[in-house]
Amino acid sequence: MSAVPLASPGPERSGPWPAPDAALDERFMRMALALGERHLGLTWPNPSVGALVVGADGEGPLILAQGVTQPGGRPHAERIALENAGASARGATLYISLEPCSHHGRTPPCVDAIMTTGVARVVTALEDPDPRVRGRGHQFLRDRGVEVVTGVLADAARRLHRGHILRTTEGRPAVTLKLAQTADGSAARLSGARLLITGERSNCRTHLIRAHADAIMVGVGTVLADDPQLTVRLPGMEDWSPVRVILDSRLRTPASATLAVTAREAPTWIICTEDAPAEAERRLAAQGAEVMRVGARDGRLDVPAAMRLLAGRGITRVFSEGGPSCAEVLVAHDLVDEFAVATSSSRLNEPGIPAIGPGLRTALSNRFMLVETEELGPDRLELYERA
Ligand SMILES: NC(=O)c1ccc[n+]([C@@H]2O[C@H](COP(=O)([O-])OP(=O)(O)OC[C@H]3O[C@@H](n4cnc5c(N)ncnc54)[C@H](OP(=O)(O)O)[C@@H]3O)[C@@H](O)[C@H]2O)c1
Repeated sequence: MSAVPLASPGPERSGPWPAPDAALDERFMRMALALGERHLGLTWPNPSVGALVVGADGEGPLILAQGVTQPGGRPHAERIALENAGASARGATLYISLEPCSHHGRTPPCVDAIMTTGVARVVTALEDPDPRVRGRGHQFLRDRGVEVVTGVLADAARRLHRGHILRTTEGRPAVTLKLAQTADGSAARLSGARLLITGERSNCRTHLIRAHADAIMVGVGTVLADDPQLTVRLPGMEDWSPVRVILDSRLRTPASATLAVTAREAPTWIICTEDAPAEAERRLAAQGAEVMRVGARDGRLDVPAAMRLLAGRGITRVFSEGGPSCAEVLVAHDLVDEFAVATSSSRLNEPGIPAIGPGLRTALSNRFMLVETEELGPDRLELYERA
């Protein structure tokens, strides 16, 4: 994005515009949250934040400018919104889905930009749990006479910024676990032969969820059975493909696997144990894949350690599209924050590998609640979140 100079400070600050009103605050915060949602998957390691500058024109409130965190995490949403508003931001209200930053990073803090433009009122949804901020952004503004309101639509903002919050507070990414099942509950054929469960509309929806993830993850079982591409193949969104992650304790991923062959087109990270064969690492690395090692538990790679590793690399949101084994181990370690269960209207009509094993079934009924159901042609998508 080209840099537009920030408005220079005018003589005195007036406002705030529009007059403070709780219903208006919610309305504009909802829009800021929707803006933030647009760039989920593009801004890691930073959160995707939405911001609006709102003034008034005598008839009522007027949106002066908007911003969303740019790909790669910079510039921040509020800086873009303020730059777009220019001198009209003086006396206006700034809505941001997360507390503005107050620390010097690669760019000066956003609170400086807010002070420079003369915004009179700042409304945020949440305090930023990042230890470099954690209330300091709000306090900085209050100390300088800016009215600050926080906690507006906080629950919705926690959902939007879940990946950032978990990476900051627990050192792991947020995990969405997807499973597709036939009407009679199978995830795969017993023989391992490929089984296409869901139809076109459901698959498009899956690609949209992929686009908003920082990483798509599978176990090597899925690589061996399905040889997937794990890219976003929606028209116009081909550049949104996230990092592809394989959990592969002993580096069984074949050199011929699509994820290995295309590793230079979309990043492929393969996580294995410390004692996985060095020769296999050399072969996969020569194809452009990045091999990362973690400790082992019960002979397989330590999944919580793998999640910490991904967070350390900046990943905030993981979309797990692996098979039943990956699903069970993620649930067993309480690492799943959201379930997406796609159910086809067709039956397998033969014994298959159950999609929802005992661990998942217990977790779904005890720890999760259904929050959304979508009908996607002949398929149904159910979204569950932690209760
Ligand atoms: N219906 C669906 O939603 C869906 C989705 C994906 C795949 N599938 C189907 O599921 C079948 C494959 O099932 P799957 O369960 O083998 O696939 P998976 O869960 O994707 O992969 C399993 C592999 O992950 C590796 N892994 C690494 N660390 C692990 C750990 N700590 N715990 C458990 N596994 C770990 C294991 O191999 P190592 O021990 O060698 O590391 C394990 O064999 C295929 O038929 C595929 O088509 C269905």
